[in-house]
Amino acid sequence: MKNVTRREFGKVAAAAAALAGVSLPEFSLAQQPLASRQFPPGFVWGCATASYQIEGGVHEGGRGPSVWDVFSHTPGKTFDGDTGDVADDSYHLYKEDVRLLKSLGVGAYRMSIAWPRIFPQGTGQPNPAGLDYYKRVLDELQANGITPYVTLFHWDLPAALPGGWQSRATALAFADYAGYVARQLADRIRHFMTTNEFICFTDLSYGVGQFAPGLKLPQAQVNQIRHHGILAHGLGVQAIRASAPAAQVGLAENAKVCVPVIEDRANLEAARRATREENAPFLTTLLEGAYPESYLQREGANAPRVEPGDMKAIGSPLDFVGLNVYNPTYVRAAGSALGYAIEPYPASYPHMASPWLYLGPECIYWAVRNVCELWHPAAIYITENGCSAADVVTPAGRIEDTDRVMYLRNHLTHLQRATADGFPVKGYFLWSLMDNFEWADGYSKRFGIHYVDFKTERRIPKLSAEWYRAVIAANAVL
Ligand code: NOJ
Repeated sequence: MKNVTRREFGKVAAAAAALAGVSLPEFSLAQQPLASRQFPPGFVWGCATASYQIEGGVHEGGRGPSVWDVFSHTPGKTFDGDTGDVADDSYHLYKEDVRLLKSLGVGAYRMSIAWPRIFPQGTGQPNPAGLDYYKRVLDELQANGITPYVTLFHWDLPAALPGGWQSRATALAFADYAGYVARQLADRIRHFMTTNEFICFTDLSYGVGQFAPGLKLPQAQVNQIRHHGILAHGLGVQAIRASAPAAQVGLAENAKVCVPVIEDRANLEAARRATREENAPFLTTLLEGAYPESYLQREGANAPRVEPGDMKAIGSPLDFVGLNVYNPTYVRAAGSALGYAIEPYPASYPHMASPWLYLGPECIYWAVRNVCELWHPAAIYITENGCSAADVVTPAGRIEDTDRVMYLRNHLTHLQRATADGFPVKGYFLWSLMDNFEWADGYSKRFGIHYVDFKTERRIPKLSAEWYRAVIAANAVL
């Protein structure tokens, strides 16, 4: 390192601090000036959760069973036989959850509505008590100045729907439910997301068998189920628009994030091309209003059956695209027909507490950039980003989750780059407000910035909550 005298060093630090508009004691020598870590004015900071993962109260207020109640009560399906019967008990403790949000200083909360609370049978007679619960939650948010961003389907499908997503009728039932909720709650909700993460409630649920209902069907049927999923989204968009014309409508999708192995032209182009191909059955199709020819050719006889009008609905214009971003897929240029190759993770590649959660914070930048360059959406939200960590409560009662802070800080650094490049990123929702039911992993994986003691339901802010509060206050990466 070049030798600098104390005097020279002081001068440089003072000049940098003056540029950044902060006083010297606040100036961290280890970081860039605050100005280059700043998010645009009005950037939306939020936290995310989902109904089945936090609510509990599964038999209350007239709620019908969901496929996740059935699945989690089937021996051997979830870690330790964990279920969402009680979860974070947000059905009763929602006011406390809103207090946590308020104390973080977030402007927005991404939550989901449980379809079987509104239509216990999936269709037919609505359940006023279910709707009243969400009115109470939404009113509490409003009283605290927090804007709701509401997902209509985050995997808790009413168990009563025959065949679940195997049936085309489920897509139509979803549209009825979406239209009903939008009509009833248009005065309280301005931002709707139709569905969350297609691949999880289609492939993983009906092909791999890892998620409810836990089936392992052949590819042709899985492709048809995918089609019903995106059709539900499209019909849902139309129904929301008809019922709540002033609402902003989008979705939350965990598109595969293709990161160029080297930031040069050839690899950048390969990553963009890969983004389109790798997301062919879902995001690509609904943003282009047609299945890519390459996808149809690849699937051949297994390609989905499409009815007249389906593609128009599926391609319904959106106000925003929500991206759930967790991990990178590294891509390089290749001489193959596709023009790219995916690099497998080496054995030593680091991951967070969930074995699938490979660490690659630049993925959040490439998620935004690839999607914007391919499809030019009007607005992008990061609808989820966060990580599991092996949190422990210290004898002093604290949770020092420095690994989670590291994960989040690095992702936000790369998200800031996307905003500085001028991409229309409007907001960021951290997954999750608090530890909750992590699907097949039950309560064994903690994603919250508040620790939940599942015996007492006590919530304790982790170091990451303290850090996020500071980030929000500064509107900058800290
Ligand atoms: C994606 C899902 O939307 C959410 O439900 C899940 O808990 C997180 N990722 C973490 O796996």
